Amino acid sequence: MTTPPIDPTSTSAWAALDAHRSGLDPDLRGWFAADPERASRLTRTVADLHVDLSKNLVTDETLALLVRLADEVGLRDRIDAMFRGERINVTENRAVLHTALRRPPGAEPRLVVEGQDVDADVQAELEKMFAFAERVRSGEWTGVTGERIRTVVNIGIGGSDLGPVMVYEALQPYVQDGLTLRFVSNIDPTDVAETVGDLDPTTTLFIVASKTFGTLETLTNARLARDWLWETLQAAGAIDGSEESRQAAVAQHFVAVSTALDKVAAFGIDPANAFGFWDWVGGRYSVDSVIGASVAIAIGPDAFRDFLAGFHAVDEHLRTAPFDQNVPALMGLLNVWYVNFFDAHTHAVLPYAQHLHRFPAYLQQLTMESNGKSVRWDGTPVTTQTGEVFWGEPGTNGQHAFYQLIHQGTRLIPADFIAVANPAHPLRDGETDVHALFLANYFAQTKALAFGKTAEEVRAEGTAEEIVPARVFEGNRPTTSILAPALTPSVVGQLIALYEHITFVQGVVWGIDSFDQWGVELGKVLATQIAPAVTGDEDALAEQDPSTRALIAYYLQHRR
Ligand code: F6P
Repeated sequence: MTTPPIDPTSTSAWAALDAHRSGLDPDLRGWFAADPERASRLTRTVADLHVDLSKNLVTDETLALLVRLADEVGLRDRIDAMFRGERINVTENRAVLHTALRRPPGAEPRLVVEGQDVDADVQAELEKMFAFAERVRSGEWTGVTGERIRTVVNIGIGGSDLGPVMVYEALQPYVQDGLTLRFVSNIDPTDVAETVGDLDPTTTLFIVASKTFGTLETLTNARLARDWLWETLQAAGAIDGSEESRQAAVAQHFVAVSTALDKVAAFGIDPANAFGFWDWVGGRYSVDSVIGASVAIAIGPDAFRDFLAGFHAVDEHLRTAPFDQNVPALMGLLNVWYVNFFDAHTHAVLPYAQHLHRFPAYLQQLTMESNGKSVRWDGTPVTTQTGEVFWGEPGTNGQHAFYQLIHQGTRLIPADFIAVANPAHPLRDGETDVHALFLANYFAQTKALAFGKTAEEVRAEGTAEEIVPARVFEGNRPTTSILAPALTPSVVGQLIALYEHITFVQGVVWGIDSFDQWGVELGKVLATQIAPAVTGDEDALAEQDPSTRALIAYYLQHRR
């Protein structure tokens, strides 16, 4: 029996927040001047993450009301239900247990859900993946000619791509020398052609990563990669082209990661070379499952275990910390504050760490596929605006591109600034510590956004009066600063878990199922229906609406 969502707008906390917002005139300059303890009072820690919330447009009363809202919508019960393995993914009738993937070996009490010993299953699959990773890393696992593997190509899309590629980039210093990962995701044939075209087939291993093993893009790319492997191995004289030699090539050069091991076998990959997981792991929550196999090969089992431990530390914090100290809860509630009480449409995530350059793209799937919903988990319409657009680029590139709009545009854009104290490459430019200079930008931006620059300050610089308005910075642009000692595997796991839980908290307040993604279905179905028209079927073309028909006609006329 599903607990119906509580309409947040019907709570007394919502009414109080409404009244509070009407009377609130954000004044970060004034608030900081009047309250020397503001920064320390509004800073929280979770695991290795130091999170300064003080430059948000909140007072103590705001936070107290947001925490009350969390209580009134039943956030604690929902968190407990998730960790217990209840089927809180209502529309797919599934449990949501990505947190089980990072429970340490031997965790007590054991997690058994609906008769499944989840801990035992998770550890068994991880050990299988680690054993395979060690064989590849040591050179024991070879291609058909006996050469060790030097390049691993992950073929997947969405959660079966964005997580592994983001983490691989984030943990570059931990990648074993002589091993490289590449990623193929798009069904645009350019992707697979350019990603594998220059590789040596004898030293290449493909991982076909697909939760369902039914995704058109991934299966098409996997077949193209398999054809490439067969052709190039045969051209090199490594196989003779017979059926047996082709099967032997697939056995040595293809492994799979999926919840559908029967479909893996049907593709021709030996189930012995496949790693499994379960329907209670959502695609966008799966990088910590065997979907991370490419990462496990690259960084090794020990670093991968540290990565999982980072997630787990944040999971335990979400599960146990009171909401006024609970970082994911507070950050999720702040996002609700901005979306629903300041009409914020977007949220920037700005990593000041080059290795996190794919983190915003990763977060786009996590947050927007999770919370881009118009109905609640009982099918009734939502009662508020929901998911905001997440976006970002690494600092300082963004500063020279889109920060103008964040500083002086008409829209409020809450932003998270993420940095680490120690860079991967501590270079000096003469006397200057370049990373320190980089971080000076990180500190300067949130300061400028919060406190701005008044007309008096602009005039005091001798600015001509007619230019003064253009040079004024309003300030009161909200930011959260997240700092960590270094970008270790654990810290990367912590950051991912933090945003997973922020997303969940927002979904609970809005009463939506953050774990389904029905909105991607229609486009997939229509693509299959339209495909014959695009390949020249006149009848299928005639059935299309006038705009689609004309667009396809343009394509047919212009293709060579
Ligand atoms: O299209 C949406 C989606 O289902 C995502 O949720 C998922 O991460 C992606 O497709 C890939 O799915 P799969 O891992 O099953 O290939």
